[in-house]
Amino acid sequence: MEFRHLGRSGLMVSEISYGNWITHGSQVEEDAARECVRAALDEGITTFDTADVYAGTKAEEVLGRALKGVRRESLEIFTKVYWPTGAGPNDRGLSRKHITESVHGSLRRLQTDYVDLYQAHRFDNETPLEETLKTFDDLVRQGKVLYVGVSEWTADQIAQALKIADEMGFDRLVSNQPQYSMLWRVIEAEVVPLSEKEGLSQIVWSPIAQGVLTGKYLPGQPPPAGSRATDPAGGNFISRMLNDDVLTRVQNLKPIAADLGLSMAQLAVAWVLQNPNVASAIIGATKPEQVRDNVKASGVKLDAEVLKKIDDVLGPVVERDPAKTVSPEKRP
Ligand SMILES: NC(=O)c1ccc[n+]([C@@H]2O[C@H](COP(=O)([O-])OP(=O)(O)OC[C@H]3O[C@@H](n4cnc5c(N)ncnc54)[C@H](OP(=O)(O)O)[C@@H]3O)[C@@H](O)[C@H]2O)c1
Repeated sequence: MEFRHLGRSGLMVSEISYGNWITHGSQVEEDAARECVRAALDEGITTFDTADVYAGTKAEEVLGRALKGVRRESLEIFTKVYWPTGAGPNDRGLSRKHITESVHGSLRRLQTDYVDLYQAHRFDNETPLEETLKTFDDLVRQGKVLYVGVSEWTADQIAQALKIADEMGFDRLVSNQPQYSMLWRVIEAEVVPLSEKEGLSQIVWSPIAQGVLTGKYLPGQPPPAGSRATDPAGGNFISRMLNDDVLTRVQNLKPIAADLGLSMAQLAVAWVLQNPNVASAIIGATKPEQVRDNVKASGVKLDAEVLKKIDDVLGPVVERDPAKTVSPEKRP
């Protein structure tokens, strides 16, 4: 496993990290969750990503149990706040009240005294940015959070936050967590250039497009049994990528992967890691074999000719519009 700096900070993260959205506390049983975490640790993954909202807070509990007994100093644990964790009007968003209550819940469920990175899961259009950033800064002073970042923020929102942090002397954001894969490149035009200039990294989610880039979803055929597309929670999210044009083009990537001696999942993970602004690719898994397959992308170099062949195969199905990075107008 290779390691990269998180933004301009001193923190190192494993360039492949493990995330538990859709899986822990939901799609997979606790035994399988524990086996995946064990496989991740055995393969040298030290960075784990979760969120208060995953599986209605159960995912953090499962991860906390799975990591119990592992030396805390050998792990980087990331979590997030914003999406609703309860029915009340203050059980969501980035207010001082919700952030403070949510981080306490996360620490309890994860069975840890601090999280390494605390991320605003979306931009909250209903809370003054100063309030959020001051609260994040307070959590850093209290030692409950070591670094702060965001997820799915636009370049403009990140720039606003950096300006306030610099004016007020608050801790600066070190990272953004966007969706990024061969199929979804919306950060490249604006978010990445700003982040490079300002010292933030991307920690990218769904690098294999939730399984689509493994090539296991075939055009014109029902999804394979047990895959995310058949899961009641996950099926909804993956469905927009399951159209025959995308799936046919993905099948045409198979010779490129085969020529390089890579699995399709390894090619997809390696692809996001070619971007130097990416500190880590967060992989999900329902089975330990998937973790063991995907981690082999660490350290793989893809040359310009390979990258061009991939672009030629995928053609117009690649999404590049920066306007696709959106947070809800009102809190959900
Ligand atoms: N910040 C955000 O808003 C946000 C949003 C989404 C995710 N995330 C983070 O990113 C993490 C990863 O997201 P993701 O789970 O969508 O990532 P992903 O790595 O693109 O997809 C993972 C899924 O693909 C399938 N898969 C993985 N490896 C495979 C292999 N070798 N062969 C066949 N199938 C394979 C598995 O599903 P099946 O076996 O069920 O098919 C697995 O659960 C999340 O856990 C979370 O931490 C963040």
